[in-house]
Amino acid sequence: MKKLLTGIIAVTMTMALFTGCAGNNEKKTNVKDEKTTEVSSTTKADKKGMLVVSFGTSYADTRKVTLDAVQEMITDNFKEYEVRRAYTSNIITKKLKKRDNIIIDDPEEALKKMKEEGFTEVIVQPLHIIPGAEYTDLNDIVDKFAADKSFDKLVLGRPVLYRTEDYKLAIEAVKTQLPELNEGQAVVFMGHGTPHPANSSYALLQYLLEEEGMGNVYVGTVEGTPDLNNVIRRLKKDNIKEVTLMPFMVVAGDHANNDMAGDEDDSWKTILKSEGFKVNTYLHGLGENKGIQEIYMQHVKDCISGNPLMEEE
Ligand code: CO
Repeated sequence: MKKLLTGIIAVTMTMALFTGCAGNNEKKTNVKDEKTTEVSSTTKADKKGMLVVSFGTSYADTRKVTLDAVQEMITDNFKEYEVRRAYTSNIITKKLKKRDNIIIDDPEEALKKMKEEGFTEVIVQPLHIIPGAEYTDLNDIVDKFAADKSFDKLVLGRPVLYRTEDYKLAIEAVKTQLPELNEGQAVVFMGHGTPHPANSSYALLQYLLEEEGMGNVYVGTVEGTPDLNNVIRRLKKDNIKEVTLMPFMVVAGDHANNDMAGDEDDSWKTILKSEGFKVNTYLHGLGENKGIQEIYMQHVKDCISGNPLMEEE
């Protein structure tokens, strides 16, 4: 009976998770159900786990101060959970295995192991910036484990940028890493960008930066829109002469080191210089930023309190 009940809870909770506002009321009822179930059953001990998921990076230096640092912070803050990591990029995990003999599971493998080891509760917290294709894929994987009732409780957290309020917090966080900007000076963030519709996150970020009085901060993407040409047009229109390039990505890995700050002809640094700008580079991923780390902590807390996606009404 307990198995059946908790199974139903797992499924309905997941349904509530992915149906937005409408699911909220239903979810509250479920939390109540869950408590009732726990009271009536004393046999099964809770085994709580957390899976911290990122794309991964093969750059060890940045990994240590971003992905690993966030994972450590989560481990220190949520002691009743066993915290593990998974990378979504098979290219990265293959490279790490071959080059450094570091074995890192993808999310599906990691969840499979946690199921086999008898975890009853698992929180999956992505370190992704936007709810793009990788987040959607992760969502599908979590759905699959929920559908076959692998865990009593399985919750997926949200990425850095999700609710409008999240953008504001992220902007507050990045404010602390900006240089002093005088007239003619600007910061250009390099976001990743994606063909996924969540690419529009970058336009909202730009909009809200301007609302917060940070009109001298520009957002471009390396693989989506706006691209560097869009940014250059704005920089010229606004009479900017000097820019500092910063990654708007959790790690300062390949894109930051090569596409942004590399010496190749097609890097942002080289192109901006050839367009007459003075260029500085900042090679630290957002995962190093204390405010962004706090955002991840909060998103984990929201998973635990049963409100990972939309705000409470
Ligand atoms: Co990429």
